[in-house]
Amino acid sequence: MLEQLHQLKERALSELQGLSSVDALEKWRVAYLGRKGALTNILRSVGQLPVQERPTVGQEANLVKLALKQAYNEKAEAFKREETLRLLEQEHIDVTLPGRPVQPGYLHVSTQTLREIYAIFAQMGFQVLETPEVETDVNNFQLLNIPPYHPARDMWSTFYTTHEGVLLRTHTSPGQIRAMRMYCPETIRLLLPGKCYRYEAVTARSESMFYQVEGLAVGKHVTMGDLKGVLISFARQMFGADRRVRFRCSYFPFTEPSVEVDMDCIICGGEGCRVCKHTGWVEILGAGMVHPQVLRNGGYDPTVYTGFAFGLGPERIAMLKYRIDDIRYFFGNDLRFLHQFA
Ligand code: PHE
Repeated sequence: MLEQLHQLKERALSELQGLSSVDALEKWRVAYLGRKGALTNILRSVGQLPVQERPTVGQEANLVKLALKQAYNEKAEAFKREETLRLLEQEHIDVTLPGRPVQPGYLHVSTQTLREIYAIFAQMGFQVLETPEVETDVNNFQLLNIPPYHPARDMWSTFYTTHEGVLLRTHTSPGQIRAMRMYCPETIRLLLPGKCYRYEAVTARSESMFYQVEGLAVGKHVTMGDLKGVLISFARQMFGADRRVRFRCSYFPFTEPSVEVDMDCIICGGEGCRVCKHTGWVEILGAGMVHPQVLRNGGYDPTVYTGFAFGLGPERIAMLKYRIDDIRYFFGNDLRFLHQFA
């Protein structure tokens, strides 16, 4: 019997050595240590032995059982360790990899263009003043020499509110009135930027909402020469030092004289192309000397003060600068467009 136990132990341990999986280990456990396992059978048969043999065999059997259990535990531990190592290897996290960058926010192309414009005019002493988008008919039209039923109103049809005489401004020019009334009799050099609205068909060239930047300078010796110098300087800083600028006679009710300002086409260099409608020139803004009545409406005596004003569209400027062929992209919220200015 003792010999049998000894052999069993040898066999079990050598089998255990060669096991290569958790499944095989479990089968091994059932075969030797299970309720119907080899060792259990031997232990059970101890009772049938002659009385004097029982203690030695029983003791030996228990020792074998302990030895097998311990060997089993060690093997199970080893498998567990291997498994952990394998997982660590497989699900390896390389903490030295740089993190995935978070896409930071950035400014809308209109805002970027506005800021470029502010920076250029800031060098010439212009400060930024924001004025309301919701305006009165009086400021938007009447104090700018556009009385009710004036035909010029056709150029500036807008959205009206349910309050009589309150509308969304069609241009930033009503800011001229507000600014003058705020600063009179000081001399002023201001940029009045902001959103404007027009009730009109939306096309590649015109939106119902867009930005404008109004410029206004009022003082005792402000001349048309100043107007030209400032605008030529702006065009060259914005679009390149060799830009040519031309001033064409025009009409606005609130300036006299009035001009429209063209720049040689940056797309074709003045040769003539689709963008400049084959004229070699593109219009970039409207301007003029502040009309004496508008100066008076702002509180300034037109026999003492003069001023110039201009109004430019940052989207138009950006379209020229970045060769964008449709103004609807600006507020269409298509990220493929917006990301290009990140
Ligand atoms: N307000 C004019 C427009 O929207 C532009 C302008 C501004 C013209 C200032 C002259 C002086 O068309």
